[in-house]
Amino acid sequence: MAPAHGLVWRKDPDRIISLYKYWATLATEPAGLGVTALYGTMYRNTERTLDDALQAIAEEGVPIEVFNVGLIDPSFILPSLWTKRGVLVASPTYERAMFPAMVRVLNFASIKGVRNKKAAYLGSYAWSGGAREVFEDYATKLNWEVVGTHQFTGSAKAEDSQKIRELSQQLALTSK
Ligand SMILES: Cc1cc2nc3c(=O)[nH]c(=O)nc-3n(C[C@H](O)[C@H](O)[C@H](O)COP(=O)(O)O)c2cc1C
Repeated sequence: MAPAHGLVWRKDPDRIISLYKYWATLATEPAGLGVTALYGTMYRNTERTLDDALQAIAEEGVPIEVFNVGLIDPSFILPSLWTKRGVLVASPTYERAMFPAMVRVLNFASIKGVRNKKAAYLGSYAWSGGAREVFEDYATKLNWEVVGTHQFTGSAKAEDSQKIRELSQQLALTSK
């Protein structure tokens, strides 16, 4: 037993040592190829733009993991955030700020020190906006390099789709 220290590895200790070495490098080195796509939505305006975003990323041959933050606990999201270089945050505005389920994930990322990412934001709003500023605050705090943001009112129009494709491609190119 190792109380409060987790499991005891009785076989193949080199495996867990090399994993810990790798995880430790992620605190300071860029993570591997790939994008974690986080989305939250109330009326699906933001969700409907994901096809454009994900297609643009996939066209660059960059692997993606997609999470609906309203349904998936942050503990299942953090491994992807740690190990992939890029982060797409797709979230509507909620009470002049960000959709609370997305705030929860970003807060976990902050607590766990998920730093040094390439990041992009997209999201729908109706009158004031506010989610983008929350994203930018987290990006500054976590040293995430913002490659682009796009917010739009209500459902995305053709010009919004085009901008979302462009910023997603940019994110993919910097996440290689
Ligand atoms: C509870 C609630 C609070 C909202 N607060 C704001 C707000 O403060 N400012 C704003 O511009 N839009 C606000 N909105 C509007 C949404 O951002 C807008 O409807 C958006 O299109 C929702 O995107 P979604 O379909 O991806 O959920 C709010 C909507 C709801 C349901």
